Amino acid sequence: MTHSSYAAADALLDPLTHADGSADDVWREMRDRHPWVRHEPDGYPAFWSVTRYQDVRSVYADPERFSSAGGVLLRAYVNGEDPGAGLTLALTDPPRHSSLRTILAPHFNERNARALADRLRADVRDVLFRAAESGEFDFVHDVAGRLSSLLIARLLGVPDADLDTAVRWIEEAFAAAKPMTSHVPLTRYVIDLMEQRDKGPSDDAISLLLEGEVDEELLTETEVLLNCENLLGASENAGLSLAAGMAALVAHPEQWHDLREHPEIQASAVEEILRWGSSATHSMRTATSDMEREGCRIRKGERVVLWVRSANRDEREFEGPEKFDLRRKPNRHLALGFGPHVCIGQIMARHQSRILLEELVTSVAAFEQTGPVTPLASIAVNGPARLPMRLALR
Ligand code: HEM
Repeated sequence: MTHSSYAAADALLDPLTHADGSADDVWREMRDRHPWVRHEPDGYPAFWSVTRYQDVRSVYADPERFSSAGGVLLRAYVNGEDPGAGLTLALTDPPRHSSLRTILAPHFNERNARALADRLRADVRDVLFRAAESGEFDFVHDVAGRLSSLLIARLLGVPDADLDTAVRWIEEAFAAAKPMTSHVPLTRYVIDLMEQRDKGPSDDAISLLLEGEVDEELLTETEVLLNCENLLGASENAGLSLAAGMAALVAHPEQWHDLREHPEIQASAVEEILRWGSSATHSMRTATSDMEREGCRIRKGERVVLWVRSANRDEREFEGPEKFDLRRKPNRHLALGFGPHVCIGQIMARHQSRILLEELVTSVAAFEQTGPVTPLASIAVNGPARLPMRLALR
C-alpha cells in the first residue's frame, strides 16, 4: 500500500485552510506524491481524498462503484444524514437517478435557456442599476448572490410579483447554512407553489416534478419538496462562481481589458471563470465494493472525497494552471462535475455568466474595488464572502 496516509492532508478539514489559500499547497503535494490519502478524523466518517484530475474524473464517471445516495458532501457526524439521501436528483444512483434526471432535464436545455435569456438580461441590468445607484455595494451579495437566486427562482416558477420576497427568503435560508426545510417561510412558500401548480401546471421545474413518475409512480410531496431544495441550494455555488469571476477580473486588469476589447473570447472566458472559481470545492461518493486505486485498498462503504478545486489546478491536465487566462484552450475543467451527475443547471449557469460579462462590457463605464476581498471559510464551497465595489453605468 503506498501513500495512504499523509498527515498534512487532515488540514483540509479546517475551513481556514481554504480561506487562507494554503489548501492549494497541500493539494499540490498530494497530487505529486499522495494521490489517494485515507483520513480518520474525529467527528467524521473515515474518508479518502482524491486530488488528481484524471482520478476525480474517473470517479465521477463511475456511479456503479461510487454511489451518490449516501450524500455528496462530507458531513460531520453531528449533522446527521442528509435529509435528501436516496430521494433527490443529486443523492440517487441509477436507475432512479436517470428517471429523475429525465423528468427535469427538458427544463434545463439550451432551448429553455434561450427562451429565458431576455429575462436574465433584464435581471442583470436591474441588479447592476441598483448596485450603481447604491454607491458602495457588496458584489457577492448584491450582484452575484441576487442573480443566482433570481435564476433559480425563475426556473422553479416563482411569479414576477413574488420574486423579491422569494429571493430574500432564499438568501436567508442558505446564508444560515441550514436545510431549507428548517426555514419556515420559504418552505411554506414552495408548498404553496406546489399546490398552485398541482391545480394548474405551468412551464416550470415544480410542475415537471409534480407530474413526473419514477417506476410508474408519482413522486411524493416530500420528494418534490426535497428536489426543489436541491435546486434552490445550487444558488450558493452559482453566486460564488460569478463573484469569483468578478474578483479575478478586478485582480487581473489585463484580462478584463482583453475581454472588453475582444468580445469573441466570451465563451472561453465563461469556462475559465468556472475553472478558476471552482466554487464547488468538493463532491463526495461512497465506495460500493472493495477496490484498489493507485496501490491503495478502498473498502466498501468508505467515503471518497473528490477535491474538484485541486483537479482544476492539476498540472497534468492544465498548462500553467495557476494562471487566470480567459483565452485558455483546451479547458476541460470539472467545476460543474462530470458524468451522469454533471450539473443539470450548467447551460443556465453558463448563459447567466455570459450575459453578465456582456453587460459588464456594454453597460458599465467603470468599476473599482473599494476594500479588501474577504475569503469564505468553508470546506464545501469556495469564493469571496465579501467583495466591496463601486460601479458607474454608461
Ligand atoms: C456556476 C454555477 C454552478 C456550479 C459551479 C455547480 C456545480 C455543480 C457540481 C460540481 C455538481 C456535481 C455534484 C456531484 O456530482 O456530486 C452539480 C450538480 C447539480 N447542480 Fe450545479 N452548479 C452550478 C449551477 C447550478 C444551477 C444554476 C442549478 C439549478 C438551476 C444547479 C443544480 C444542480 C443540480 C440539481 C445538480 C445535481 C445533478 C445530478 O445529480 O444529476 N447547479 N452542480
